[in-house]
Amino acid sequence: MEFKGQEILFTREQIGRRVVELAARISADYAGRELIVIGVLKGAFIFMADLVRALSIPCRVDFARLASYGADAASAGKVVMTKDIETSIRGCDILIVEDIVDTGLTLAFLVDWFRERNPASLKVCAFIDKRRRRRVPFEADYVGFTIDDGFVVGYGLDFDEKARFLPDVHVIETGGE
Ligand code: XMP
Ligand code: MG
Repeated sequence: MEFKGQEILFTREQIGRRVVELAARISADYAGRELIVIGVLKGAFIFMADLVRALSIPCRVDFARLASYGADAASAGKVVMTKDIETSIRGCDILIVEDIVDTGLTLAFLVDWFRERNPASLKVCAFIDKRRRRRVPFEADYVGFTIDDGFVVGYGLDFDEKARFLPDVHVIETGGE
């Protein structure tokens, strides 16, 4: 599939402006503190790279990787950690950065996983919040863009490992009624 021909949902300019806005809010909320930003591989790598460079507060970075299994390839039922972070987070301010919230299972799992280590605070920043297919209640603290449904690629998001490198976000399936 040639993803470049697909409809652009968010242009690189819109994304750039939104990232700056999010970073300004996060920087204000954590003023005077030092954040540990945890990126969820692989999808969040581009968003996180842009976001941390737009922050005006210091931060450290680390990465986790998860796998999910089940019927639906996009968002399955069971989530497991395949690569944990290497930083001790007890007593620290933590911001998880994820590409997209869909069913909510991945982030619900991750929040529980890191809460057990007693960070001082734990918040979530999602590039996209896809609202319609939630299976567990989950609200991210910071959201770049909200969509209803559909499958999106680009800016880190993939379809079968393709299209992550595209600078804009494209819709390859609208979902819809
Ligand atoms: P859950 O359902 O646990 O899933 O919130 C989050 C993960 O599902 C993948 N996902 C997508 N990936 N375009 C993608 O490239 C999409 O529209 C999409 N919807 C869900 C993604 O890996 C995310 O981390
Ligand atoms: Mg992903």
